[in-house]
Amino acid sequence: MGEAHFSNLGSVPTGNQQSGVKMTQSVTETVNRQSQFIAGGTMSTNRAITPPRVFVRAMGAYLWDAEGKKYIDYHAGFAPYLFGHGDPEVDEAVVKAIRSGASLIGAGTTPWEAEISELLCDAVPGLEQIQLTNSGSEAVSYALRLARAATGRDVVVLMQGGYNGWADYVSYNLMDPASIVAEHEPGTEYKLRPFTSGIPGVISETVRVVEFNDLEAAERVLSRGDVAAIILEPILQNIGVVKPLPGYLEGLRAICDRTGTMLIFDEVKTGFRHALGGYQAISGVIPDLSTFGKAIANGYPMGVVGGKREIMAFCAHPDPERRVVIAGTYNGHPVNVAAATAVLKRLKSREAEIYERLEKLGSRLETGLREVFSRRNYPATIVRQGSAIAVYFMDHVPTSWRDVAMNHDSDRDVSYRRAMIDAGVFHFPVATKQSSISLAHSEEDIDRTIEITSDVLNRLN
Ligand SMILES: Cc1ncc(COP(=O)(O)O)c(C=O)c1O
Repeated sequence: MGEAHFSNLGSVPTGNQQSGVKMTQSVTETVNRQSQFIAGGTMSTNRAITPPRVFVRAMGAYLWDAEGKKYIDYHAGFAPYLFGHGDPEVDEAVVKAIRSGASLIGAGTTPWEAEISELLCDAVPGLEQIQLTNSGSEAVSYALRLARAATGRDVVVLMQGGYNGWADYVSYNLMDPASIVAEHEPGTEYKLRPFTSGIPGVISETVRVVEFNDLEAAERVLSRGDVAAIILEPILQNIGVVKPLPGYLEGLRAICDRTGTMLIFDEVKTGFRHALGGYQAISGVIPDLSTFGKAIANGYPMGVVGGKREIMAFCAHPDPERRVVIAGTYNGHPVNVAAATAVLKRLKSREAEIYERLEKLGSRLETGLREVFSRRNYPATIVRQGSAIAVYFMDHVPTSWRDVAMNHDSDRDVSYRRAMIDAGVFHFPVATKQSSISLAHSEEDIDRTIEITSDVLNRLN
C-alpha cells in the first residue's frame, strides 16, 4: 500500500488556490525562491526538513502539500493541535471575539482576561495566579525571572534532553552526542554545551545541566545553595516520550524544599495534552511555578506562567527594585484568549470523555505498532503517554537522553520517518521527535497508519 492508497483519503483541498501556492509549482522551485529571503530557509529554523516539502493546508487530522498529496498528520505543528487543525469550535470562538470588538486594548484589564485566569487557576493544581504570554519560551523566561527574584539566587538547573524554548538561559545541552554522554559520570552535572551560537559566555556561569531521572546529580547541584530553580518537562517530550521513574518528581520536590529551590514544571508540551490539570495533576507533585503553551490554545499563540501566589506576587512587589516586570504588547491578546478559553471550557465540560477518547486512540495505535514492529529482526520499543507516542529503535524503555543517545538507532529512525512521509503519514523526520494524536484522528486513520507502517517496514527491512 503506497501513495495510491492515500488518494482515497479525501479530495484535494481548494484552499491551495486561496493560499496563493499553485498546486503544480515544483517544491524545489518554491524552496529555492524562499531561501533567498527566509534566513535558513524556514520560519523557525528547527522546521527545516530533508527532503524539503512545501505545505499549503492543514485540516482536522490531515496535511496537504503543494503537490496535492495528503498526509495523516502526527506532527501537529510540534504538538499544539489537541483537537486537530482548524477545530470549528475554537475557530468559531475566535471569529466571534474578532467580530464583537474584542480588540487588543492594552490598558487596564478586560473581562475575558479575568475569565481565562480563573479557568486556569481552577483547572491546574499548581496555579494560584498567572500571567499570559504569546509563547512557551516567553513563559519560561518569566518563570526563571520570577524564581530568581523570589530566591535572590542566580543559578538555574536544566535537564539534558529537555527543551524549554529558545531563551539564552535554557539553550544548553539539548541532545549531546553519544560520544559526549558516554563519558558523562552519572550523579554529576554536564559540561555546558550551548545548542546555539550567540549566547554570551557569562550566561553559562548561571546555568547547570543534569540528567533527567538522576536524583543524585540534582541533589549534588542543588545542595550548593545557589540555585534559584530547577526547570524540567515532567515527561521529556522533545526526545520522544521519556517518563520520570517512580519517585523522581517526588524526590526533586523534596530536594527543592530542603534547599529553598524553586521547582518549575515546563508543561508546554504535557499541559492539557495529558490532563486538564497538566502532568502535575497526574503525578500529584505540585511545582512552585509552571509554564504552559501549545495545546492550551489549539494552535493559536499562547503561553502561561503561573504558580504560587507569593511568588507571582513579585509582579506587584511594593519595593520597585524587587518587582518583576512581565511585559508584552500582545500578552493576553483577545484572539488567543478566545481560543484558549474555548479549549479550557471544552476540556472542563467534557474532561473524562476527551481524555478517554485520546487514550483509546493512543492505545489502538500503540497496540498496532507493537504488533507490526514485533515481527522485525531489530529491536523497537514504543513508549506512550495518552496521545503522545514515540518509537525507539532500541531494546528497552529509555529513562534519559543518555540512554537514548547510546542505544537508539537514529539512522534507522530517520529512514523510517522519511519512508512513512513518502507513504502519506507525517511524523516529523528528525530522530526521536514525539508524535501527537488529536481528537480529529479517527479509528480509521489509526488503522491506516498501522497498515502503512507495516508496509513501510516490509520495504525498509
Ligand atoms: C517543553 C517546551 N517548553 C518550551 C517550549 C517553547 O515554546 P514556544 O515554541 O511556544 O516558544 C517548547 C517548544 O517546543 C517546549 O516543547
